[in-house]
Amino acid sequence: MAGNQKEKIHDDIVERTIYNYEQYINPSLTRVFKLMGLPLEVSAEGCYIYDNDGRRYLDCLGGYGTYSLGHRHPKVVDAVKKQLDKMPMSSRILFNETVGSLAAKLARITPGDLKYSFFCHSGTEAVEGALKLARLCKQKPGIISTFNSFHGKTLGSLSATGRDIFRGPCEPLLPHFKHVPFDDPDSIEDAIDENTAAVIIEPIQGEGGIIVPRDDYLPKVREICSRRGVLLIADEVQTGLGRTGRMFAVEHWGISPDIMCIAKALGGGVMPMGAFIAIPEVWDVFIASPYIHTSTLGGNPLAASAALACLEVLEEQELARQAAEKGELLLNGLNDMAAQFPGVVSEIRGKGLMIGIELCREGFGGFVLSELIQDGILAAFTFNNQKVIRLEPPLIITLEQVEEVVASMKNAISKANEMVDEIE
Ligand SMILES: Cc1ncc(COP(=O)(O)O)c(C=O)c1O
Repeated sequence: MAGNQKEKIHDDIVERTIYNYEQYINPSLTRVFKLMGLPLEVSAEGCYIYDNDGRRYLDCLGGYGTYSLGHRHPKVVDAVKKQLDKMPMSSRILFNETVGSLAAKLARITPGDLKYSFFCHSGTEAVEGALKLARLCKQKPGIISTFNSFHGKTLGSLSATGRDIFRGPCEPLLPHFKHVPFDDPDSIEDAIDENTAAVIIEPIQGEGGIIVPRDDYLPKVREICSRRGVLLIADEVQTGLGRTGRMFAVEHWGISPDIMCIAKALGGGVMPMGAFIAIPEVWDVFIASPYIHTSTLGGNPLAASAALACLEVLEEQELARQAAEKGELLLNGLNDMAAQFPGVVSEIRGKGLMIGIELCREGFGGFVLSELIQDGILAAFTFNNQKVIRLEPPLIITLEQVEEVVASMKNAISKANEMVDEIE
């Protein structure tokens, strides 16, 4: 009797949640979740998420790059709890030690002369602020971005995003944005004119399908921007904070931008947190007019405490180095696996623990993802390219877990391969 009752309550939670999503969030999104067999998440710890049945999933999506430290890292949780007991939100008018310490720490760990920070909550807000700062600094409206890029979906950052499917229905977007091919420095040289304030670039295109540029691309872009008097904005919202095997992806190519955007992992997987950071010459406009860009809740002490703890953990545990080493193992394992299934996988690529698996057909994606979920692995497509499954596990993933991911992927891909045999 008691058992039945428990079962009933359990069913009710699942049904009620799906009903609420269908009725009050989005019916078509709910259909997609149901089709994929996505369960109800109830808790998470380390590299695992647990569902309503107590099943665990190795989180290889990592909240699109948010869970670099895994879920509920004890040091971050502890810092947030302490801040919660002291003062979660700021007066907005008094000095706050945690926020100041975070800004100082960012100035220390970011490349080049990046120094001043503005805090917000998300990647898109960081990009909005960076674009605004660039325009104010240069007193010019033009921004050059790349096709297939992803910089967010609010109107300013969407104007930079290079994917028509997201842009088209919202047009007209902001004027004076030009898009040029990624990994083609000459196209940037050609696109710059007297109205150009800045070039915005992801060092590795994430949502575009984990596209790593040639080694001379970013150095050339840096040289062009400096020579032509144009600012370089690096959007490190996804690549930043250890993900690619360096603290910031631009460091792979030895360059530093004039403005950098970060978010996602910055909140330590516990709080929403974003920031844009700039060199002093660029920040001068904000110094002259400190209230020209503000946010009531952005940079609150609670989120700042999470970010500060996150940066400490990244350094203490040398997570960027770990990402480089484990990423190489994962990449090698996946490449060996892919070589056996040339009809399903066309390429494996990436840097550190930001890895893309490009499938030969878009149709394979949903199947492979569902197989992975059944095998206890969470992953997803990249937003701009559904042929690519991205793997962005926590940087704390163990070597055994890396092997588990390769084995599950092999299982899923070999089943997809049987489909090819059936089709042909
Ligand atoms: C490179 C990049 N910039 C900006 C964003 C937008 O971030 P958010 O979703 O936090 O607004 C994303 C999100 O995926 C991203 O990958």
